[in-house]
Amino acid sequence: MLGVVLAGGLGTRLAPLTRIVNKHLLPVYDKPMIYYPIQALVNAGIEDILIVTGGNNSGDFLRLLGNGKQFGLKHINYTYQEGEGGIAEAISLAEHTAGGQSICVILGDNIIEKNIVQSVADFRKSEKGAKILLKKVHDPERFGVPEIEGSRILRIEEKPAKPMSRYAVTGIYIYDATVFDKIGKLTRSNRGELEITDVNNQYIDEGSMTWAELDGWWTDAGTIESLHHAANLVAETGANRLD
Ligand code: DAU
Repeated sequence: MLGVVLAGGLGTRLAPLTRIVNKHLLPVYDKPMIYYPIQALVNAGIEDILIVTGGNNSGDFLRLLGNGKQFGLKHINYTYQEGEGGIAEAISLAEHTAGGQSICVILGDNIIEKNIVQSVADFRKSEKGAKILLKKVHDPERFGVPEIEGSRILRIEEKPAKPMSRYAVTGIYIYDATVFDKIGKLTRSNRGELEITDVNNQYIDEGSMTWAELDGWWTDAGTIESLHHAANLVAETGANRLD
């Protein structure tokens, strides 16, 4: 399984902090933001990792992370997304490195208190379809939101005005290798992006989507409020705990 950390995009919601600096290099308490998603993958036993970068200071990821010695890795792969064409477009850049393997994607601005060990192990039993991680939030309209019936997801809506549940789809997605064909079928949304929600809805339509509820706190760090909140959470309890 290839781990993919997405660190592209322009981070405009964090302007002016991101006018010069790539969002994922900004500090979250005592570490650069991108350290947290990388550590989450490493904790789940994923040691083959690709960073998809883009936007400002993309070369600085190499200076910061090198070959990943600080995470106990022997090597890190890098690729570059031109422009800001969406999460699904950024994932498509992983096809070459994945070489037919399944992938575990984590958005570079997502930080978790605990770990994804169980979900990765569950997916590895079949290595088929997709698995997403959900978390109850007080502001679902900011996220992808699932409509759930029993234990089944019926549909996901991106940033709905009227959310169908209190769950957010977190930025942690586990996919089999058919994800790249599914991305190939997408058309751009109104905001000009290839949407990850459209990929997830294809898995739902073919009946191969599973989900789990993420343990511990979860936050993104893509707005001034959530960046501040993330730093406080990390300071209070620490992130990526294995207990
Ligand atoms: O955080 C979870 C949410 O992330 C999900 O609930 C939503 O369904 C999903 O669309 C996404 O929403 P955001 O609006 O928060 O996504 P954002 O555009 O902020 O991008 C999140 C990360 O994805 C960003 O830190 C880097 C990566 N990204 C994003 C875009 C648009 C890329 O690598 N390339 C891109 O073109």
